Amino acid sequence: MAGVDGGLLMNHHVHVAEKPDWPSFEVPAPVTFGGDPPPETTILVQGRPDERVVDSLRNLGAIVVPWAGIPPEPLSLVTNRPRLRLYNLHHNAVDTAEMALALLFAAARRLSMLDASMRRGDWSPRFARTEATRLAGKRAVVLGYGAIGRHVGKVLEAAGMEVVGVRRSNIGTLDTILPSAQVLVIALPLTAATEGLLDGRRIELLPRGAIVVNIGRGPIIDDQALYRALRDGGVGAAGLDVWWNYPTGDPPHYPSNQPFHELPNVVMSPHVGGATDSSEVDRAAHLAELVARLVRGEPVRAVSVSDGY
Ligand SMILES: NC(=O)c1ccc[n+]([C@@H]2O[C@H](COP(=O)([O-])OP(=O)(O)OC[C@H]3O[C@@H](n4cnc5c(N)ncnc54)[C@H](OP(=O)(O)O)[C@@H]3O)[C@@H](O)[C@H]2O)c1
Repeated sequence: MAGVDGGLLMNHHVHVAEKPDWPSFEVPAPVTFGGDPPPETTILVQGRPDERVVDSLRNLGAIVVPWAGIPPEPLSLVTNRPRLRLYNLHHNAVDTAEMALALLFAAARRLSMLDASMRRGDWSPRFARTEATRLAGKRAVVLGYGAIGRHVGKVLEAAGMEVVGVRRSNIGTLDTILPSAQVLVIALPLTAATEGLLDGRRIELLPRGAIVVNIGRGPIIDDQALYRALRDGGVGAAGLDVWWNYPTGDPPHYPSNQPFHELPNVVMSPHVGGATDSSEVDRAAHLAELVARLVRGEPVRAVSVSDGY
């Protein structure tokens, strides 16, 4: 069996299950694209691999999810098969951070409401009581201070905000930090520990009028509690890229059982945070680099099965 974790590299075969549209993908091993992996596969690049296919690959040592968030399928596959290691990519951290910033600035200035008015020829918001929020001088809490969160933090500091990053080492202080979070940006992975983290109780800890941005995963927030807080004014505005319901059939398909789409103080996007004109090229480059390191037996941080990310 070929070693993928420090062993000398021999007989590696890389299979990329979804046929990509990349200009190049150069790794120091034979590579196949699309369809079922050949029996000699040692490294399988696939987000949601089929259990039976995985078990038919006797030399398989690594599964690479070609994006950041780990779906439950590969995690449970690896949990039950200790010979397999799981890896993921953070290629689009800057793209996703830029989306978080776009949602934040749009939410702070109630941009979707202003844009909708102008499209109706309605200038009345110009003469109404202003609901715009100045961000400079305020405090932003960035929940999840990894590849995405740190980029968000850097830009917000440059914009004059005070930034507090929260990661596992200081998550225990969350309840004492939230009352001063005039802006809360969520850039966490969805794991057993983060699901429902921002529940009704914690949403009530936020200062009145706070702005909430989520580019992590929907179920990190209790959607009913967030909806009610936005409707009733406890939370001032929100920018949401990730959701609780994803489309399963014909449109329209609303992204939560709560009618966020009826609230003027919410800016919504259909989980496109990580997708820009540069992200696919970067996906290929980061994936090639990661696979090459595995093939050469160099150290690569694997997903922690117990932490779920
Ligand atoms: N909207 C989109 O299109 C899009 C695109 C890409 C990614 N995402 C989402 O964004 C997530 C983060 O991506 P990333 O590349 O920034 O990942 P990352 O570099 O792994 O960063 C994750 C951060 O979350 C923290 N964290 C994890 N579990 C925690 C817990 N239980 N309590 C407190 N902090 C915890 C980590 O803490 P430590 O620093 O202590 O490890 C780390 O700071 C992904 O998992 C994915 O769900 C969304």
